[in-house]
Amino acid sequence: MKIKNICCIGAGYVGGPTMAVIAQKCPDIKVTVVDINEARIAAWNDKDLSKLPVYEPGLDTVVAEARGRNLFFSTEVDKAIDEAEMIFISVNTPTKTYGKGKGMAADLKYIELCARQIARVAKDDKIVVEKSTLPVRTASAIKNILDNTGNGNGIKFQILSNPEFLAEGTAIADLMNPDRVLIGGDTTAEGEEAIQALVDVYASWVPQAQILTTNIWSSELSKLTANAFLAQRVSSINAMSELCEKTGADVNEVAKAIGMDSRIGPKFLKASVGFGGSCFQKDILNLVYIAKTYGLNEVADYWEQVIMMNDHQKRRFADNIVSTLYNTVSGKKIAFLGWAFKKDTNDTRESAAIYVADDLLNEQSAVHVYDPKVVEERMYADLDYLNTRASEENRKGLKVHQDPYEACKGAHAIAVLTEWDAFKTYDWQKIYNNMQKPAFVFDGRGILDKQKLKEIGFVYYKIGEGA
Ligand code: NAD
Ligand code: UGA
Repeated sequence: MKIKNICCIGAGYVGGPTMAVIAQKCPDIKVTVVDINEARIAAWNDKDLSKLPVYEPGLDTVVAEARGRNLFFSTEVDKAIDEAEMIFISVNTPTKTYGKGKGMAADLKYIELCARQIARVAKDDKIVVEKSTLPVRTASAIKNILDNTGNGNGIKFQILSNPEFLAEGTAIADLMNPDRVLIGGDTTAEGEEAIQALVDVYASWVPQAQILTTNIWSSELSKLTANAFLAQRVSSINAMSELCEKTGADVNEVAKAIGMDSRIGPKFLKASVGFGGSCFQKDILNLVYIAKTYGLNEVADYWEQVIMMNDHQKRRFADNIVSTLYNTVSGKKIAFLGWAFKKDTNDTRESAAIYVADDLLNEQSAVHVYDPKVVEERMYADLDYLNTRASEENRKGLKVHQDPYEACKGAHAIAVLTEWDAFKTYDWQKIYNNMQKPAFVFDGRGILDKQKLKEIGFVYYKIGEGA
């Protein structure tokens, strides 16, 4: 079966870039990305490519090539479902904020709505692809809805699991050259045929050896497992960073030393102010919830510790600023360089910066932020979401700057929260000259040149290294 028409429900950080790359690589396939968020779709259709709703290096070029040719962004969900032979579900699956499983389980209401909509609209057989990250065994729930809520005229649905492994900031490179593409499906003849149809789409640019097919439950669970392992590495190195600070060891040297062991490997060992992003925490909490549901309490406790370590890392970074600044930051200006959860993205979901700012605002500090890609309203929305204080208080306590030198002017301390490359190139002498003395830098990403900053006169603290 050759796919000619793809629909993707959800034009977010995954749906948008992933479909843009499929469309660019498969000019014979019409790809329509739909969303209920009209503003988002309008932004995807904006002639000015700097207005795309997702900032990813290289995305604008891909969109420029494919959009209007075989890549379309639309709010007409029913029409796109009707036309497509293959429908990707790429909607958000946040942590539940209410009811059973609150604060742990994935909220699958958007997934269920998609399944019901597909069942209602479909007039012929469809392959439905889980692109969102889902709890293991969600495919059976989707299948149940598709088979039982439709118009009952014998339409057949095949469900595939095709989790996405792209990381933000490198999404286009990851999609163009993935370590692997994982496709899980039914082991029946119809299942195999559906798997092959999706394999053929990816085979346009991904070598066959990197396209891995499994049963559907293995595929669903592999996604949660991959994120749990990645986050666990960050929490492990962050745990060691605290011990390094106490003992005189340097966490970067430790990371290099262990990373040269080929069994450990060098990647994902960068100590930080704590991992953020929309997925690590959500997916681990979901894993913990699933384990508990099966009565596997030791498994649940093991993974929950990864989150507890991360919370501790964020809190102790803020604590260290307060205690170093003579136990009070009340009325003191603290400049933040960075708000995004990592460099090269405008995404701020679960960014460590939000929690550090919240702690410092509790200490009555004046927080001044500069981030090259995050807009002011996003920062206030992030703080408001925590519900720690009134919205007006957040606006009073946190000021946003368009110029990093202005953000740092008159500050008692600078905290580096995101590892944007540009921060390394700043005129640090100029920044120093305009700050209160002693001028402190708390480098939560370990990116600045310690030697140079000390020579200028800064009191410099780097995560994972004693002062
Ligand atoms: P997102 O919030 O950026 O995008 C989801 C989009 O789905 C939103 O624009 C929303 O309006 C839309 N939507 C929700 N319900 C809809 C409906 N019924 N009909 C039409 N549109 C609907 O989310 P995201 O970051 O793209 O993540 C999507 C999924 O992919 C999640 O399950 C996430 O865990 C997973 N994932 C994310 C990443 C990442 O880097 N962000 C990477 C891999 C996997
Ligand atoms: C992560 C995974 O890397 C992707 O494979 C996965 O598809 C995605 O989650 C998802 O499911 O959403 P992402 O969150 O976009 O991607 O970015 P990462 O590069 O993994 O970084 C996550 C967080 O960990 C960031 O805050 C980053 O700064 C931090 N990190 C990462 C460290 O502190 N140290 C490291 O060594 C690596």
